[in-house]
Amino acid sequence: MFKPIRKAVFPVGGLGTRFLPATKAMPKEMLPVVDKPLIEYAVDEAKAAGIEEFIFVTGRGKAAIEDHFDLSLELEAQMLDKGKNREAVISHSAFKPGQVAFTRQQQALGLGHAVWCARNLVGNEPFAVLLADDLIKSHVPCLAQMSNHYQNVGGNIIAVEEVSPEHTDRYGIIEPGNWDRNLVEVEGIIEKPSPEVAPSNIAVIGRYILLPEVFDFLDSQTVGIGGEIQLTDSLSSMVGTFPFHGFRFDGQRFDCGDKVGFQEANIAFSLDRSDMKEPMRELIGKYSSERNA
Ligand code: UTP
Repeated sequence: MFKPIRKAVFPVGGLGTRFLPATKAMPKEMLPVVDKPLIEYAVDEAKAAGIEEFIFVTGRGKAAIEDHFDLSLELEAQMLDKGKNREAVISHSAFKPGQVAFTRQQQALGLGHAVWCARNLVGNEPFAVLLADDLIKSHVPCLAQMSNHYQNVGGNIIAVEEVSPEHTDRYGIIEPGNWDRNLVEVEGIIEKPSPEVAPSNIAVIGRYILLPEVFDFLDSQTVGIGGEIQLTDSLSSMVGTFPFHGFRFDGQRFDCGDKVGFQEANIAFSLDRSDMKEPMRELIGKYSSERNA
């Protein structure tokens, strides 16, 4: 039996340049898919996996995230006055007092640096990392699937999926060892390799269960590809010393850090909503027939 995963880190300190100008004054993680911000999907997923403590690594211009998860007493009172009880409940804070912590990454130096900023809040226990811009639609939430497997194998577990071989330079890519159903031993991991040198087309997706020893490697603050402190580089140093698995999750991932992926997520999630399904189908039909005309 391994220690349960109680803490989750949400790195939200990135600049979100691919969504400019929308992200000039608004965090990318607050972009809504249908009517819920990306970050709230990630928090809901963490809650469903039994996470008890929620650690946000924010940055300048990210105050909206803190406000979003705070109480909004005036809004709630107004909703209740108007008899909008459902809306009042939706507006309520997602957290109990003391369950949430915010720390600031003063400079967006990379994902590895963002995770390292959470080291004192995480302490000496295994923890989860969720990147809100990877939105995963699944029957059992992705992190819960991973936590279940963690109880059997321990160590680092990272979500993986196959990507087009020509897109390996957009992802961390693993060198796979033996597969045991949906778990694969990680024998190597490299950030954004070109297709010519990529060890596979199995990419790392933004869900991780990590041992606290990762902080010892992040301490070196080594700058990697793109001039950023990459999480992948520290994970690479752990291969062979610590148990390390990739996990092929059940579900569909939407890359909401990318404009097309974000629009696809909005279509998929709205088609799943009973109040939107029919009008969305009509709209999609209308635009596809206009394009084909
Ligand atoms: P991305 O690689 O998508 O970078 O980060 P980004 O800055 O958000 O967006 P682009 O590429 O400029 O459009 C993936 C996740 O890691 C966080 C981001 O907030 C996002 O949730 N991140 C990235 C940090 O917290 N700090 C960093 O220094 C970099």
